[in-house]
This record gives sequence, structure tokens and C-alpha cells, in this order.
Amino acid sequence: MVLIAMDLAFQFLLFVIWGSAAIRISRSKKRPSIRPWSHLVLQSVGLLLTAGKIVTLSILGSRDWLFVKDTLAVHFLLLGVPAAAVTIYTIPWLRKLASATSTDAAPHTDHFPAAALPVQAAGVGASLDFVLTLLFPMKSLNVGIFTLVAIIYAAWAGTLWRLRKQKPAKRSRAVRITVGMLLVLVSVTSWFVLSSQVSKLSDRMSMMAGEEDYGGGPSMAGHDMSHGHVGMASTSSSASGASFVSVEDLKGPRNGEPDRRLTLTAEKKTVTLNSGATIEAWTYNGQLPGPELRVTQGELVEVTLINKDIEEGVTIHWHGQDVPNGEDGVSGVTQDAVMPGQTYTYRFIAKQSGSYWYHSHQQSSEQVKNGLFGTLIVLPKEGLATGTEDITVMDPTYKTVGDSEVNLLNPIDHRTVKPGTPVRLRLFNTGNWPKKFSIAGVKFKVAAIDGTDLNEPAELTNVRLDLAAGGRYDITFTMPNTPVYVSTDPSSGLLLSADGKGSVPEVKNASVFDPLTYGSPKETPFGAASKFDRSFTMVFDNKLGFYDGGFERLFTINGDVFPNTPMFMVREGDLVKTTFVNRSLVPHPMHLHGHHMLVLSRNGKPSTGSPWWVDTLNVDPGESYEVAFKADNPGLWMDHCHNLEHAAIGMTLHMSYEGVTSPFEIGHATQNRPE
Ligand code: C2O
Ligand code: CU
Repeated sequence: MVLIAMDLAFQFLLFVIWGSAAIRISRSKKRPSIRPWSHLVLQSVGLLLTAGKIVTLSILGSRDWLFVKDTLAVHFLLLGVPAAAVTIYTIPWLRKLASATSTDAAPHTDHFPAAALPVQAAGVGASLDFVLTLLFPMKSLNVGIFTLVAIIYAAWAGTLWRLRKQKPAKRSRAVRITVGMLLVLVSVTSWFVLSSQVSKLSDRMSMMAGEEDYGGGPSMAGHDMSHGHVGMASTSSSASGASFVSVEDLKGPRNGEPDRRLTLTAEKKTVTLNSGATIEAWTYNGQLPGPELRVTQGELVEVTLINKDIEEGVTIHWHGQDVPNGEDGVSGVTQDAVMPGQTYTYRFIAKQSGSYWYHSHQQSSEQVKNGLFGTLIVLPKEGLATGTEDITVMDPTYKTVGDSEVNLLNPIDHRTVKPGTPVRLRLFNTGNWPKKFSIAGVKFKVAAIDGTDLNEPAELTNVRLDLAAGGRYDITFTMPNTPVYVSTDPSSGLLLSADGKGSVPEVKNASVFDPLTYGSPKETPFGAASKFDRSFTMVFDNKLGFYDGGFERLFTINGDVFPNTPMFMVREGDLVKTTFVNRSLVPHPMHLHGHHMLVLSRNGKPSTGSPWWVDTLNVDPGESYEVAFKADNPGLWMDHCHNLEHAAIGMTLHMSYEGVTSPFEIGHATQNRPE
């Protein structure tokens, strides 16, 4: 985080300092005869900042080459070259001038334009580099080279102008300035209008519209047939013999008596919170959060979704359960949003035990915030240790009327647990940002992450648990005689005690839990040394730009937002590696639907603890991660940031299996808004 912030700060300061140095030297008509020292100071600061930028880039680059790969050439041309010229030519020239005792000893004034040029180039270069960083995080190379040529021409023309003996007439100067400003104004305005128009989502589009990225693996015969032309070929086959299957045919068991039959009704409801406050919520079954669904591993679960009165339509996505694609509940990808009065039935076998959750994947940033989510607990076939107190701890925040956020755990919730009882706390983060959980008053183990048990977890005490948005940690311990406190902030939490009373033990966190080194290794079906069929890269940047016509601070994947993000193409059976690199200023919890990813390394350091499987991985600013997964669940899957606000402005992409088609569409003319 510090590195990324420093890098951006250097970029900004370089723009300010070189900009001022350039303006200052350009104003000194013929020669900086007055106070050459002030020029020297400004330029030295510029050079120091350039050095600082080089240092931060080298640190990031040694962490992962992807941090700098695409921008290095631009920085070199726009910052490096002018800085070198200033060092070699301008600074010595100014020093000679400063130390000259008489006019005669001073360097000849005819040389002034040559000395000023590098500084002017540095000013223009730093400004351009700054603008490129903000607007074109990843495509800056081409634009950079183009603009560099423009700078050279401009500087050259400027020098020629300055070398002319006669001073330009006042009026012509005013005219030139006006024309120049008009030109700038017109080009900036047209850029804004154009990019705003271009960014508008079309009325109807297939989620499969992205540009294919084969990740270095073989491309697929007839893949362009799979381009979501409506009603296309759920059973046809291409010339090469590859057959197509529609997401509608990738369902859970259609027949057979379900082991669990559940109904979830989406409806608006006024809900009273623990704190006594009431809020207008969007609920499943009138509850906030929705009812906890408890099933047993291996059971066939049938859930009927009824939409009573959510006008925008709803769905249910089973976050972390790797269900068949047709049951994944993403509007516009695997189904149409379920509109008021309509119903939809999901059927799947709960294959993985552990802590999962469900939420609407229609207009999800709004709907999850308003309450359309709940927990899904899949108990292992063999059950939990006898007598286990199995407790769900959620830390959701809700939008209330007036936009202030209300915490469900507020105020402190008391619960009676007999000393000696085995306790399992299921921590959920259903919000958009990482949550810091503290467990005070007991030694505990992190038994599972995102539903998967860890191997030989060690006991922890005074360790803070930073939970990814969308992620889950299961904590286990034996209830002591004294109270135990779980919280995300001092004023709200859950207090477990023998008598349901007692005082809150002191929260002291000496360190932060790190899954990379926690527990002990165990054999996995694949690992860092495996041969991968495909490797994908996702580099995240900040960018100012447009999404669907609105100007936003965007978070880009490989320089762009949906629908201009790539479409990852895989073939069933592929072993796939993905690298995440976060060059933006905020964390991004990356969630892949339908698969669990094995973390291989972070910042180049291999995972040495228990196998660490995730469905949602928090990638902090300045961090890089390598993960791997097996392509064993055919379909069309979302891969997106689970900060749902980020997803809503395009931080999403899709992964498609060879030959999978979808008849569903998104866009303003459809009811589907997956984000
Ligand atoms: Cu929990 Cu695509 O989301
Ligand atoms: Cu994000």
C-alpha cells in the first residue's frame, strides 16, 4: 500500500516540480541572469524525485515484473531522458552561470535555449506521464510514444521561436494564446464526449462479447460460433467436431426427490434490528439477513425463489459452492432476472462442506447492501464434533434511510456457552471492504478458509483476522471459564460466557493472521511446480474515465473495464494459473465463480503453510498473487471484484469453457443487470 501510494505521490510531485521548473526557465527570456540558484534548487528537487520514482519502481518490479512491465518505456522516455539531459547539460551550465563573477565569465547567452530545453522537456514529459497514469494506466505505451514525438516537435518549434531576434507583436501573441486555449478546450471536450458515448453499454449484448484471451494455450475451433448469438445451437457442432452446449443444459439433477426443499421469497420489509432501530430492507423471507440455510454434504437441495415485489428482479447466487453453471444464479449469464410475480427453481447437490453464502446476483451492489443475502452452511457428512456450539458471526452493514450505515452486531450481543464446549465460529464478511476481526479471551485455531478445512492449524492468540470481502474463516476453540469476545470494532461484537453476562476481555492484537505460512503443507492435486495449460494475468489500476456514460474513478483489469475486459477461454481439464497484480490504491477481493483457487505465492514468496484454497482472495495494493485451479466445471463463469461497488463500474470479466453458449443477454433493453 505504502509503495503504491508513494509511487503515485512521486508521479504527482514530479508533475508539479518539473512543471514549475519548466515554466520558470521559459519565462527567463534570454538567460536566467537573475538568481540561477532558484533554477538549480527546483531542478535538483526534480532530479531527487525522479530518483525516488526509480527506487519505488525497482522495488515493485523486483516483487513482480508485471508491476512495471507495460509502463517502463513511457517513464523512461517521458521522465528518464529529460532528467538525464538536465543532469548532463542544464545543471552544469547553470552552475557555471551562478559561479561566474563577471558577465564576461558567464556562459554565452546564445546557449540558453539549449540549456532550457531539457527542463522544458521534463516539464512536458512529467505532465504527460501524470495524465497518462490517470487516464490510460495500461495502454500508455503507444500514446506515450506518440506524445513524445509531439513534445520534441513542440520543444523544437519553441526553441526556434525563442531564437528569433524580434519579439512577437502584442496582439499576435494574444491571438496565439486564445487559439491555443481554444484548441485545448475543444480537444478536451471532444475527448470527454466521445469517451462518454463509447463507454455506454449497448441495449443488448452477450456476456460473451469480450475479446478472447487463451492464456497461452491453444485457441478453440469454432469458438466464434459460441459468441452468444441468441438461440444459437445448443446442440449443433462445428466443422471441427467441437460440440456446443448451452448454459441452460448445464443444470443440477433435474429429477429425483430433493433431500431439502426450501423456499426463499424476495420481498421488501421493515426490519427491527438488535439495536432497536428499524430499517427498510430488501429481504429473503422477511429476514435480515436472509434465513440461514443448513444442509448436509451430499444432499440434493432444491430452492424455489419467489419474487414478491423487488421491481428490478432478483436471483440467487451460491457464493463459494461450486454448483453446475446453470444453477449459478447470475442474471444475464446463466438465467434471466426473476421479476415480481415470477419464480425460479435451483437444484444442486451440496458437494462441499463448510461456510458459504448466497446473495442476489442481479444489481448486486444495491441488492446485497439492502439485505438480499444469507448464509449457507453445509455440514460435513460425518457431522461436527459432538456438542459443538456452531455459531455464525456476520458483520454486515446496511444502508438505512438517509444513507447512514447500521451494524447488525450493534450493540454487544451476549450468548451463553458452557465451559468445556467445543465452539465453531463462522466469520462472514458480506461487505465490500476487508473486515478486521478480533478474538479476545481464548486461544483459537483457524479451522477453515472459504469452506475448505486447513491442514494442522496451529493455536493462535492475540492475532487479528483480516477477512476478505466475500470471504469466510471458521474459528474453533474450547470454551474457557472466562468470557470470549469476537468483534470487528470495540463497541459491537459477540460476547460468549458461561452465564450470558460477564465483562468484555481486553482486545490486544500483536500481529495479523497470515494464511500463507499457517498450518502445515499437504499434498494437493497440483501446485506451483505443475505444468499449466493456460496462464492468465490480471493487473489492477486506478483510472479516471467513463463507465456506461458516467464519469467515475474506475478500477481497471488490464487497463480497461467491462465490456472491454478480456474473456478468459479454457477447455475442460485444463490446469490454469492466474496472476493478480494490484497497482491501484485500494484492495480488490477477487472472486471466481464455480471453482476454488489454490494460492501458490504472494509477492513471489511461495505458500508454505497448509494448502490455502479460496473462492475470494483479497489482493492489497502493491501485492501480487499467483493462484491455480482446475477447469473442471464447464460453463460461463464470472470472475470479478467482490467489492460490489467496483464490480458495478466494470471490474468484472468472464471465463468461458470451450463450446459453451448462453442465450441470456444484458443491456438496457433487457431486465438483466448482474452487477
Ligand atoms: Cu458473491 Cu459474483 O459473487
Ligand atoms: Cu475492487
